[in-house]
Amino acid sequence: MKVMITGGAGYIGSNCAKILSKIADIVIVDDFSTGHHQAIEGYKYYNVDIRDRVALDKVFKKEQVDAVIHFAAKSLVGESCTDPYKYFSNNVYGTLELLKCMIDNNVKKIVFSSSAAVYGNTSDDVITEDTPKNPTSPYGETKLMMEEMMKWFDTAYGLKYVSLRYFNVCGASDDSLVGEDHHPETHLIPIIIQVLNEKRDHLDVFGSDYNTKDGTNIRDYVNVVDLVDAHIKALNYLMNGGESNIFNLGTNTGSSNLEIIKTVEKVSGKKINYKLVDRRPGDPDSLVASCAKAEKVLGYKNNHTLEDSIKTAIKFHENFKDGYEK
Ligand code: UFG
Repeated sequence: MKVMITGGAGYIGSNCAKILSKIADIVIVDDFSTGHHQAIEGYKYYNVDIRDRVALDKVFKKEQVDAVIHFAAKSLVGESCTDPYKYFSNNVYGTLELLKCMIDNNVKKIVFSSSAAVYGNTSDDVITEDTPKNPTSPYGETKLMMEEMMKWFDTAYGLKYVSLRYFNVCGASDDSLVGEDHHPETHLIPIIIQVLNEKRDHLDVFGSDYNTKDGTNIRDYVNVVDLVDAHIKALNYLMNGGESNIFNLGTNTGSSNLEIIKTVEKVSGKKINYKLVDRRPGDPDSLVASCAKAEKVLGYKNNHTLEDSIKTAIKFHENFKDGYEK
């Protein structure tokens, strides 16, 4: 089996490349706008923007892949609110061109990187795939539109897709050599690690008056290796003739921002300096996944604990003190 990984030089894509390359042929397509060459050393790649259909079509003709795992996208909620053009162009238009190339080249299986951001604000304590979708950002809206496009490509052309709606992805590869390196960093756990490594004086905890047990936001943190494993299971599901489907990927449990700080303190043995500050716009109180459907249909499992994820993330930042390519 040969698989194209779009966005294969990014955080989740490069972790997928590392694991999938052990069991299949892979070819990466990335425009390196946020991805890192160092994350994919030794793998075949093309420096192509998926919106460039002529270039992308050449890769399809040359490589003759059986399926695609599609990570390439812009993925910052805050940035999407100030620069929606970038998101609709890269994510929606880019995916449209990718899907067209797939159909033109008779590639009809795709595993898609979707997001819990499609749900937006919800009063459901635990989110199932049937929870109403009300995205509160252009980012979430683009992910929902990409899912809708695939649905209509299935109806019209028989494209089979699995859309995986991730909650908060964290941790690094088990050997801590492939991890999260964003510029600027906006995510909670890497920012706490920056405080740990004295790259930041303190963490601002956004909001302490939410309707949660300790007043801070609750999120569902899923390990990146467990997440990648779900992609491989989804790929096998499609290769075995499975119908198009949508699954949540999380851990069925939530952690508050203060609990995350405590867990990092426990794992590292060091105190984290933090301040409680005002809310960040757009943050829902609590987002926790029900993964029952993925567990039942795909055999999805969480093999890593939150502490495991924090350990590999800390180790990754020890291995790459200033990030990749510095
Ligand atoms: N937070 C802080 N201080 C910081 C950074 C984050 O308190 O400096 C808080 C946030 O307010 C939030 C929590 O930490 O309560 C998690 O925030 P992240 O920015 O790490 O992650 P988000 O939950 O905002 O977003 C993540 C993914 C999105 C995805 C979303 C789905 O990054 O791509 O989960 O829920 F859409």
